[in-house]
Amino acid sequence: MNDHLISDDLIKKAEEFVRKSFEKDASGHDFFHIQRVVLNAKKICRTEQADEQLVMLAAWLHDVGDYKLHNGIDRSEELITGLLKKENADNLIIEKVVKIVSEVSFSKGNKPGSIEAKIVQDADRLDAIGAIGIARCFAYGGSSGNLIYNPDNLSKNSSSIQHFYDKLLILKNLMNTETARSIADKRHQFMELYLEEFYSEVVEH
Ligand code: NI
Repeated sequence: MNDHLISDDLIKKAEEFVRKSFEKDASGHDFFHIQRVVLNAKKICRTEQADEQLVMLAAWLHDVGDYKLHNGIDRSEELITGLLKKENADNLIIEKVVKIVSEVSFSKGNKPGSIEAKIVQDADRLDAIGAIGIARCFAYGGSSGNLIYNPDNLSKNSSSIQHFYDKLLILKNLMNTETARSIADKRHQFMELYLEEFYSEVVEH
């Protein structure tokens, strides 16, 4: 057992699987979201001591089976195990990937236990903030039937703008790695600027 058990071929297979399964998603979890997370993760790996192949494999698979995409039921363990077994991946690898994916989600509130999980979590969270995060926030809100903004209701989950306060503006301080933190700073500032402009347009004065 060593870190070199994850072949480039297995990573490619994961990419192909994700490309097929997420092709038509319109909730902000499309294939290109996952591809951006992989690229973010790769960038973070340059400054961290981590098993990069494991990070890549988990990053490709991080949204597979997510409850948001399966009517509230988490099917990640089942689907990831099924795919990796079919590709004859080692059991230890399957276990590691399933664990990382279970630790990445914001809503599950899990703390990542390994540097690899920390990197994938940061990479995913970076795609939830900044200009791309704003676009995804409204896409997800629209696909879930939420309002853009409701000045009469500022409770949790009441609108996409409210989601900035429920989650997006909190993420900067939750980054695990230095690299992600410095990217997050810039993206956070842009979101604050965006909100300022938004309110100047929607609030009567
Ligand atoms: Ni994601």
